[in-house]
Amino acid sequence: MKTRIINAPDMVKAMNRQKEETKFDVLRPLHFKELEPVIKNKHFFIKTYGCQANVRDEETMRGMLENIGCTSVNDPKDADIIIINTCAVRENAEDKVYGEIGNLKYLRKKNKNLILAICGCMVEEPEILNRVLDTYREVNLFFGTHEIPMLYDLLYEVITTKDRIVAIESKQGEVVEELPASRLNNYKAYVNIIYGCNKFCTYCIVPYTRGKERSRKFDEVLKECKQLVDAGYQEITLLGQNVNAYGKDLDEGKDFADLMEAVAKLGIPRLRFTTSHPWDFSSKMIDVIAKYPNIMKFIHLPVQSGNDEVLRKMGRRYNREQYLALVKEMREKIPGLSLSTDIIVGFPNETREEFEDTLSLVDIVKYEAAFTFIYSPRKGTPAAKMDDNVPYEEKSRRFQELVKHLEVHIEEHSKSMVGKVYDVLVDGESKNNKEMMSGYTEENKLVHFPSKSSLIGKIVKVRITESHTYSLIGELVDE
Ligand code: 5AD
Ligand code: SF4
Repeated sequence: MKTRIINAPDMVKAMNRQKEETKFDVLRPLHFKELEPVIKNKHFFIKTYGCQANVRDEETMRGMLENIGCTSVNDPKDADIIIINTCAVRENAEDKVYGEIGNLKYLRKKNKNLILAICGCMVEEPEILNRVLDTYREVNLFFGTHEIPMLYDLLYEVITTKDRIVAIESKQGEVVEELPASRLNNYKAYVNIIYGCNKFCTYCIVPYTRGKERSRKFDEVLKECKQLVDAGYQEITLLGQNVNAYGKDLDEGKDFADLMEAVAKLGIPRLRFTTSHPWDFSSKMIDVIAKYPNIMKFIHLPVQSGNDEVLRKMGRRYNREQYLALVKEMREKIPGLSLSTDIIVGFPNETREEFEDTLSLVDIVKYEAAFTFIYSPRKGTPAAKMDDNVPYEEKSRRFQELVKHLEVHIEEHSKSMVGKVYDVLVDGESKNNKEMMSGYTEENKLVHFPSKSSLIGKIVKVRITESHTYSLIGELVDE
């Protein structure tokens, strides 16, 4: 099997941020007509790792495949096309993907016509791509985050030439509208508002894999949200690596606060957004969140570290004092606000004192939820070239210590909810107890309660009866 490289990733190109205007395009498959008869009635299986942007990408790929007559299957053994949609943000995300390819590669030995594809962030990193190309000869299609709109053409190439195709272009990227979507949930939806990231935090691979910050047009976002409201959706999450950089690359004179307000006015019962960068968070945004009851009083505000020197080395563009001032303004203006965050421990050369600044910040902010990570060097990023004198065992100890600190506040918050009644959007059967249903409160707390499956997708009132650190138990309240 010949390996044909249409485009290969290039970290230097991936860093390019020229001040050119965002380009817009629509889906223009070259080979839809020729491909359709060949691919019709075929079965596909997609496995997604990583963030919500990847989940939304899966929905686009599903939409494209279904539009050409393919159907989704739950077992990869039944599939003619397998797509592994990958994440590169930390090494453990990468390791899971290696495990998955290892599990699936035997299927290609059995079926020579099987298309086994890897897409997404992992293969955008040249060294990782080369490793996968060498180690997993069974994988016969590789494409990046920018090539999803070319999926029909790539499948056509693999099917007609039987070559192994690599199409991963490192570029700033454009906004492609009119892509189909087959949504994975019929009451909660993600809506992309901005793609890419220009922040280049020194530890992070995302700006290299997803291109520059480029916003969708205001009216396009509103059109999609309106369709979701009309279809009876209960919750919309506005999505972007940095949602609150929305509009900066367009000359529409609109920012994220304007967009959020316009979507809230469409009447969706729950509006969320993720992820917001503290540097781009304006007072105007805080005022809009405070004003509209259907904008959830929950903000995910990654801090990464509580120490100024570490924040500077991370390239985060704010210091501890500025972050705390922002939190103070949010807490003052938005009663009942829940804050969550991302924190990295063990950044290169992080000292014990610097780490303690993170602990003390956690004690001041008293987050209601948090995601914690041990720093994972990503090839090609500036931090990966920094000296690091902190042994992994020490990083691991700091990680445990941080989790304990966070849990004190999270537990305190959960306890304070006992006895009170909350609106819960019902998701489905509880994972560990089939007798219970589960769902999320407006402040994003997970609640389990005895109920019927007929309530899935509905917002119900639940009284909290018991609190655990990461979840709550409750009972339905008759209205
Ligand atoms: N190592 C550890 N954590 C990372 N994150 C991003 N890059 C890395 C890395 N190299 C974390 C950040 C970010 C979240 C999505 O993942 O905390 O906010
Ligand atoms: Fe990565 Fe920083 Fe961009 Fe977030 S803001 S995606 S952490 S570079």
